[in-house]
Amino acid sequence: MTENEANMISPDLPPDKQHLPTFMAAFHSDSFRNVLRMASQVAKFDSSVLLSGETGVGKEIIARYIHWLSPRSDKSMLTISCGALPETLLESELFGHKAGSFTGAIHDRVGLFEQAARGTVFLDEIGDISKTIQVKLLRVLQEREILRIGENIPRKVDIRTIAATNQDLDKAAAEGKFREDLLYRIRVVEIKVPALRERPEDIPPLTEHFVERLARRLRLPGLSLDRECLARFQKYAWPGNVRELQNAIEHAAIISGDGRIKLKHIPPQIAVEDNMLRRPWTGGLRPLEEMEIDYIRTVLQAVGGSRSRAAEVLGISQTTLWRKLKKTDGRNEAKE
Ligand SMILES: Nc1ncnc2c1ncn2[C@@H]1O[C@H](COP(=O)(O)OP(=O)(O)OP(=O)(O)O)[C@@H](O)[C@H]1O
Ligand SMILES: [Mg+2]
Repeated sequence: MTENEANMISPDLPPDKQHLPTFMAAFHSDSFRNVLRMASQVAKFDSSVLLSGETGVGKEIIARYIHWLSPRSDKSMLTISCGALPETLLESELFGHKAGSFTGAIHDRVGLFEQAARGTVFLDEIGDISKTIQVKLLRVLQEREILRIGENIPRKVDIRTIAATNQDLDKAAAEGKFREDLLYRIRVVEIKVPALRERPEDIPPLTEHFVERLARRLRLPGLSLDRECLARFQKYAWPGNVRELQNAIEHAAIISGDGRIKLKHIPPQIAVEDNMLRRPWTGGLRPLEEMEIDYIRTVLQAVGGSRSRAAEVLGISQTTLWRKLKKTDGRNEAKE
């Protein structure tokens, strides 16, 4: 399969949109390919989409991709972080208000749903909205009309909604925290975005993509990454998903100085060989010896691999350090 074929998601898309935008062209996994396929199918319709998945998996860029492929792409996609605003502010932000309707409402305000006319509204962190806003949102989705705060004449809105969450909304609904009727409305189609650890084959192409992008942004044209780093990346659990990978590479690029990223430049929690996060759950209990060697490696990374400095930090002699490292094979990480 050629690179172009790999990037072609749906042959029935318009010719100018058959290839993925560069911001998300980096993947090899079938699971991510399915996500993109579903996204391109749903993009053609106005149905509400719910993107669910852990933090940093790429929900927002997929929302942008859906909008970009949709017939609404000549209008904007407006985003609101539902969890970031207090209830009254969020309400006025979404629906607008009439001047004088509350203290501080000096002018009429057009809400997001009206501003996004014929475009897309991206409701991020939808699980965080209060019961009051949930009722009002339901009205928008059902009736396609809004009421500005302080007004009683409904206004028609022509929008498409895409919502995102990293919470379990079925559980929230079962607990009475999220309205079930609203859940059905926002989840006409649900796209579950898999965590990075469930698609480790995407780590190399994503890494390459971020290295290329950073090389330009940081003006480090020779930016490169050791194979050893990549091997470690593929073993790590990435609780912060793609965002964490991107940040780890940026951190390493800066620390490296010359742009040649080695194991000692990547954040210590990722660099340690025996990573607790990717182990089967053992109730968090581990043998002391393992914890010790993990910690020794973390210190070694932190001091740039110098054994003498590490011994000093650990409060043991270099001979003891050497013995402890030798016992677990040394891993050739340290230099004298
Ligand atoms: N497939 C991808 N290709 C390129 N960059 C990606 C990809 N997936 C995610 N990213 C990048 O990773 C970062 C996190 O992505 P995004 O903000 O879309 O995640 P999210 O799922 O919305 O996270 P959160 O739940 O924390 O809001 C962004 O900088 C995004 O550009
Ligand atoms: Mg997001």
